[in-house]
Amino acid sequence: MNFPFYPAAASKVAQDADHLYWAMLCLSAAMMIVVFGPMIYFLFKYRRGRKADRTPVKLPETKIEIIWTIIPLVVFTGLFAWGANVYWTIERPPPDAMNIYVVGKQWMWKIQHPEGNREINELHVPVGRNIRLTIASQDVIHSFFLPEFRIKQDAVPGRYSTLWFNARKLGTFHLFCSEYCGTHHSAMIGWVVVMTPDGYQRWLTQGAPGPTMAQAGERLFREYGCSGCHVNSTTVRAPPLAGVFGRPVPLASGQIVTADEAYLRDSILLPAKDVVAGYTNDMPSFQGHLSEDDLMKIIAYLKSISNTTPQREAAEENE
Ligand code: CUA
Repeated sequence: MNFPFYPAAASKVAQDADHLYWAMLCLSAAMMIVVFGPMIYFLFKYRRGRKADRTPVKLPETKIEIIWTIIPLVVFTGLFAWGANVYWTIERPPPDAMNIYVVGKQWMWKIQHPEGNREINELHVPVGRNIRLTIASQDVIHSFFLPEFRIKQDAVPGRYSTLWFNARKLGTFHLFCSEYCGTHHSAMIGWVVVMTPDGYQRWLTQGAPGPTMAQAGERLFREYGCSGCHVNSTTVRAPPLAGVFGRPVPLASGQIVTADEAYLRDSILLPAKDVVAGYTNDMPSFQGHLSEDDLMKIIAYLKSISNTTPQREAAEENE
């Protein structure tokens, strides 16, 4: 399909969504014909004054009721299952996806690659790779919308949301903000540039601006004094952070949470919210001191040390 008002399908998910859309449209059209066709026909046939046979017909009512309940039920439940399946695919990023970080702010999209490359209102990605976007907002609600990929996700202040896609086509595709966010909302647009894997590597190295996100994060980790407490050698008792990412964390409240990006973000900004079991909350909040970009760098750093053995366990093993 290539109507000007019907964007190209640049990913597998986009095709899935289109097939579902067309199936629903055709099915609805068929149902409409089944209902309206006879209705219009009868309008004319039994019009007042017309000579038509009006003797009541005896119909097998129960049978008809059963048939016209069961068939639509099966068809539309099938459609629901199909839709749920597509939704599931869209909502669950594959574990092998590469991470790119997106911050929406009035009125631009700021994008950071783990290698350290930064761009504004442009997102360069390699073709055929699973890309996972971690999306935040610096101010109001924005919405990151890629019509050619049939995906959209709100950027909500105070939380992380994720979105993933796998581009199948090389080229340049639209990027919109699709949530009214102030005066220049309509100018908050950009492009997704899908490149060959080689081209993407070249683009990364050509634009390489020095430190990776994790390195920049490590520097912030020291500058803001996080390392003062969260490193084992210090006298202050604070949970060690090496290896914490992606692991279950027991809380003082008895709950167990997984240390994902959202948990780490909350722990930095709202340290009193989820205190780790065995610790008291002595940490100051960094709300208002760290920009969303810098938070993402610190989290990238904490993720980069996630493959190392947790310091506490290592210490216990040595005892
Ligand atoms: Cu940002 Cu609309």
